[in-house]
Amino acid sequence: MGEYVITGSKKLKGTITVNGSKNAVLPILAASLLNGSLSVLENCPDISDTKTAVEILQHIGCAVERENKTMIVNSSSACNTEIPTELVKKMRSSIIFTGPLLSRAKKVKLTYPGGCELGKRPIDIHLSAFKKMGVNITEENDIITFSCEKLKGCDIAFDFPSVGATENIILAAVLAEGVTNLSNCAREPEIADMCRYLVKAGAKIDGIGSSDITITGVKKLHPATHSIVPDRIEAGTYMIMTAAAGGKVLLKNTVSHHLKPLIEILSKMGCKIQLSTSSISIKAPSVLENVPFIQTLPYPGIPTDLQPQLTALSAVSKGMCRFDETIFESRTAHIGELLKLGADISLKSGTEFVVNGVTRLKGNEVFAKDLRGGAALITAGLCADGTTIIKNSCHVERGYENIVENLLNLGANITLKN
Ligand code: UD1
Repeated sequence: MGEYVITGSKKLKGTITVNGSKNAVLPILAASLLNGSLSVLENCPDISDTKTAVEILQHIGCAVERENKTMIVNSSSACNTEIPTELVKKMRSSIIFTGPLLSRAKKVKLTYPGGCELGKRPIDIHLSAFKKMGVNITEENDIITFSCEKLKGCDIAFDFPSVGATENIILAAVLAEGVTNLSNCAREPEIADMCRYLVKAGAKIDGIGSSDITITGVKKLHPATHSIVPDRIEAGTYMIMTAAAGGKVLLKNTVSHHLKPLIEILSKMGCKIQLSTSSISIKAPSVLENVPFIQTLPYPGIPTDLQPQLTALSAVSKGMCRFDETIFESRTAHIGELLKLGADISLKSGTEFVVNGVTRLKGNEVFAKDLRGGAALITAGLCADGTTIIKNSCHVERGYENIVENLLNLGANITLKN
């Protein structure tokens, strides 16, 4: 298991080019099963979650090549309908392969994804929507089997705008018989990006990016080329790191309106932010002031995937901030680790906590327990006095390409020891 070693209190200065989005490339790789031919995907991040998705595609029978940032998937001979347990355990979002596999092979078998560091994470919304489309679902010894004669278009109102369920059902509906009307869909930009890929491949989708999406089933898709949307969470993480460590950073390959609520918070905290067509520049103030309240919400609200990093930032900002995590039932594993660095945070419930900013954090040995929590600990380490050792770098490697090289280029003192 690798560990990051950071000697803090170095200001960040320079330029970073943001990668393609992790949360867009994963459903798009799953979607590439649907055309039964070639998909050329540009701007793909080189992270361990992408590698896991490729392993799943290869297991199913696809040929996948990678040249720098471009991946070419040939799904013409996909035939396997089982997703191996170790891959589902490695990446919970493997459930997203269910929709396309059902569409292609009418049968899918996988281990129940189960809970994770963020809480129980049920898949009931996916299951009830699949049932409406004519899918039989059986569960035995933790294995779920989905099967159908054909997928049928229908009307589905999601109980909650789940990102994964919205994607899975769109993927199932593209080649289904008839029209599927979805309401209360999640509106995350990564879903819209997946839809744009599908439309390029010949899918008929109306309402892209909105809560109400209509998919008219087509008989066949064709080859498509698509460039993955920039990763708003990676961009947001570097913005928060810059605010915490101090300095000035230019982020290239960004879509600023995808980061609107974060930009509002960081501006209120004293950062100077300038936006241009595809870049964001951020300059940290000498003293950060806490905003009183941060509540995570489905898009276009503050993303839960930035909550841990914002918690670390709040820990070194003047005043108090109350956090309300409304998406996941237990996304607080980073808090105990931040306390070890001298943060002052009190948990009020599983989802609510209050951060009282302190002047300085102090380096210590801490453990990354999940992807974004790991990024929060790096954020804290960058501005802490002395040396911070962050164990379990594998969590961070799931979602941040070349994070050490990027931070070194900005002047941070960080190494990865394996
Ligand atoms: C996706 C993102 C993840 C992000 C999350 C919320 C990917 C690969 N992952 O995860 O980074 O943090 O959106 O923006 O894109 N839920 C149910 N039943 C279901 C489905 C979800 O109760 O059937 C609950 C979950 O337990 C969670 C909440 O709904 O509490 C949000 O989950 P969802 O939007 O589905 O997130 P993911 O697609 O898993």
